[in-house]
Amino acid sequence: MAGPDDHPLFQGFANVWTPAARSARVGRRPVRIVVAGEPVVLFRDRAGRAGALIDRCPHRGVALSGGRVGEDGCLECPFHGWRFDTRGVNRRIPLNPEARLDRMPATALAVREIGELIWLRTAPGADAAEDPVAPEGLAAPGLARAYTERVWRCHWTRAMENMLDSPHLPFVHRRTIGRPLRRRMTDASRMDIGWEDTSWGGRASAALDGVDGGALLEFHRPNIMSLLIPAPGRHLRIHAIVTPSDPGRTRLTVVGSRDFLRSPAFTPLFAWMNGRIADEDRAVVESSGPAEVPAPGREPSVGTDRATLQFRRYYYATLRDSFA
Ligand code: FES
Ligand SMILES: [Fe+2]
Repeated sequence: MAGPDDHPLFQGFANVWTPAARSARVGRRPVRIVVAGEPVVLFRDRAGRAGALIDRCPHRGVALSGGRVGEDGCLECPFHGWRFDTRGVNRRIPLNPEARLDRMPATALAVREIGELIWLRTAPGADAAEDPVAPEGLAAPGLARAYTERVWRCHWTRAMENMLDSPHLPFVHRRTIGRPLRRRMTDASRMDIGWEDTSWGGRASAALDGVDGGALLEFHRPNIMSLLIPAPGRHLRIHAIVTPSDPGRTRLTVVGSRDFLRSPAFTPLFAWMNGRIADEDRAVVESSGPAEVPAPGREPSVGTDRATLQFRRYYYATLRDSFA
């Protein structure tokens, strides 16, 4: 659908659902984020409904996020006061009673709230044909969640791929989550990566010398990793949401979900642990070149690269040349 923005939107990351912000962060006050190079403003109307607009006024391109939400639930542009609702409909153009409001909408994006996150669709249009498929740990009620946010100086594909890469655990994370593997590993060891396609992405498993550690790693297209940590009878997962900001900057949101130790008093501890693990990855990922992951076949690969090669195939076949 053509919007007032006549340049292609979300190049390389178009027509997908992605978590955009924590629900709690977005109130009546507009919040600006950048997704795949596009500035987006998030806000809520009087009824609490969340909306997302491309953060450029269709009139003179001013950032709408510099404006405010009025009593009518519309976001008012700070320049000449045009007012847009959460679906981008132009409700008022001051001083111009003859102006055709219907010809001058803002570019709205489809939005859903699931669990504690606001998701948006990287395509113009407030309506979307399909809903996002959220991993259980981000969607199910009754779970306690810990959030850790980081900004990495890298192309998002490098960060995403790192999250799907099991054989780095005994090296990068030798003192934390990779420790058990590091201890068991010998010069003769072999790791086998299993991969199973699913409707929403795929599942990877890793076995060291024929012994599966039980951790199950899921890739939810386009940009979420969900790691199920074995804890009998309990739900314990770590998710990494990897969002491109611009080509050299990636927003990483690590979300730990659990159904035990649910008191908020424990949340900072989980958040700290997840942050520590993410910080171990950072230098390695940021040092990768070229910035964007190369197409499959362009770098030497081995058996343990199975899951990351799946990501490369998906990225090159579907996302990389996309625009909305
Ligand atoms: S630039 Fe937004 S109303 Fe003029
Ligand atoms: Fe890692």
